[in-house]
Amino acid sequence: AGALVIAIDGPAASGKGTLARLLATHYGLRHLDTGLTYRAVANALLELGDELGDEAAAIRAAHDLDFATFDRDHLALPEIGEAASRIAVMPELRKVLVSRQRAFAEDEPGAVLDGRDIGTVVCPDAVAKLYVIASPEVRARRRTQEVRARGVPVEQAAILADILKRDERDMARADSPLKPAPDAYLLDTSELSIEAAFRAAQDYIDRAM
Ligand code: C5P
Repeated sequence: AGALVIAIDGPAASGKGTLARLLATHYGLRHLDTGLTYRAVANALLELGDELGDEAAAIRAAHDLDFATFDRDHLALPEIGEAASRIAVMPELRKVLVSRQRAFAEDEPGAVLDGRDIGTVVCPDAVAKLYVIASPEVRARRRTQEVRARGVPVEQAAILADILKRDERDMARADSPLKPAPDAYLLDTSELSIEAAFRAAQDYIDRAM
C-alpha cells in the first residue's frame, strides 16, 4: 500500500488545476491546489493589515490555515495571486507550507497536488510527475474567462502582464524556483481541449504506475 501521489507543476493558468481535479476524480485521490495555500497566507496578511514582508506573521498564518475551507472565489483575485508570488520567496514560510502539503499528500490513499515545486521539492518520490505548459496568450485567455466567470471584470491584457510577471518571479527565485523535475512528463496544452489533455495525462500516468 502507501500513498499514491501525482505531482503536477507548471506556470500560472497552464491548465494544471483543471487537470489535477479531473485526475483526482479519475484515480479516486484527494486533491490539493497548493497555490491556494500561498494565496490564503497572502490574503491573511492583507486582511490583518500586516506587511507582506512580515515573515513571522506569514508563518503564523501558514500554521493556522485550514486546508479544507479555502474561499476559492475570493482567493482567485489577480491581486491575491500577485501578493502570493511575493510572499512565496520566503524560505521559512515555504518550509511550513511544504511540510503541511507533504503531510496532506502522504495520507492514504494519496493525492494529486498541483503547484510550482511539487515534483522537485514537495513530493520528489511521486509515482507520476507532470509539467504542464501553454503559450502565454492561451493562458491569459483562459484565466480571463475564469476570473470573469467568478464575477470579476478584468482586461485580458492586464491578466497577460500579470501572468508574465509572476512566471518570471516564480522562475527566478532562489528557493524552489518553478522548473520541471528531470523526470517530469511535459504536456503542452496550448492546442489541446481539456479532454485531450486529460487523455494524454492519463496515458502517461497509467504507464508510470
Ligand atoms: O497557482 P497559483 O496561481 O494559485 O499560485 C499563486 C502563487 O503562489 C504563484 O505565483 C507562486 O508564486 C506561489 N506558489 C508557489 N509554490 C507552489 C504553488 C504556488 O510558490 N507550490
